[in-house]
Amino acid sequence: MRPASVFTSERIDHLFNDPEILNKRLFLYWGDLTDSSNLNRILEKVNPDEIYNLAAQSHVKVSFDIPEYTAEVDALGTIRFLDAIREVGLKPKFYQASTSELYGKVAEIPQDENTPFYPRSPYAVAKLYAYWIVVNYREAYNLFASNGILFNHESPRRGKTFVTRKIVRSAINIKRGIEDKLLIGNLNAKRDWGYAPEYVDAMWRILQQDVAEDFVIATGETHTVREFCDLSFKEVGYEIIWDGEGENEKGFDKTSGKLLVEVSPQYFRPTEVDLLIGNPKKAKEKLGWEPKVKFEELVKIMMDAELK
Ligand code: GDD
Repeated sequence: MRPASVFTSERIDHLFNDPEILNKRLFLYWGDLTDSSNLNRILEKVNPDEIYNLAAQSHVKVSFDIPEYTAEVDALGTIRFLDAIREVGLKPKFYQASTSELYGKVAEIPQDENTPFYPRSPYAVAKLYAYWIVVNYREAYNLFASNGILFNHESPRRGKTFVTRKIVRSAINIKRGIEDKLLIGNLNAKRDWGYAPEYVDAMWRILQQDVAEDFVIATGETHTVREFCDLSFKEVGYEIIWDGEGENEKGFDKTSGKLLVEVSPQYFRPTEVDLLIGNPKKAKEKLGWEPKVKFEELVKIMMDAELK
């Protein structure tokens, strides 16, 4: 757990508050990827079979504002972890949360394990270092270390500042009259959005292999942010009619004419990743992994959970 002066366990409170689980099956430690000796101590104490390094400053837009911290955690944090494993002399399997953001300005469509990288944010550049240091430590020290190159994966637990959760929350709040309109950035960005629980299953499968390798995890479908808005607002009875272009684009309710969505350049990124679509063929062949939840169902799952 990352130390903070406020409670940060909201997403695991159901485990945290269960006396049959906390300190019986679930053990929590204060940790920080900027603190090597802390990592060494945790490793020695826990002696894990598997490590999933999901820790990161993971917001792409925010990484333009705090680039150095992002590199410190996302890039150097990974080498600290790998080096701590070597130093303590353990041989756990190591999973690295690599990302489709590595493809950035994409070199080919769709993207697979052999597509060249072209990162477009301080976040993606930091993750590029982490990707290669995992490969390097695997080759140099024979560690079982694998990259999961995961495309966007969403669920009701998604943080509120990421676009899917933001749209879902606004659609409902607007319907309930407690929010005026949704302010949004680039509506044309295309993402390959999958369902997070299935992606976690893929992470686990990656570490159950006999040989450490890197895998793309994706649905193979791509949709725009605008389409995500269309479907979410439809769930609460709005049909969006789009008008204008770029910074001036707006979305109105077809029936009432009410303004629902407005573009605000404050959410634009200095350099954007326009299009992501992954090819999960290798994962299907070697991991027996296939995504079941596709775009429409994903929107429905998130809307249903938010409504509840
Ligand atoms: N967050 C946000 N807020 N994004 C917006 C908005 C907005 O108001 N309006 C448009 N977008 C666009 C972004 O410009 C981007 O093209 C797309 O929506 C998705 O943005 P995010 O949901 O913030 O996710 P991301 O694609 O940048 O990154 C996420 O997925 C990566 C996996 O590919 C993060 O979870 C990364 O940590 C992860 O690596």
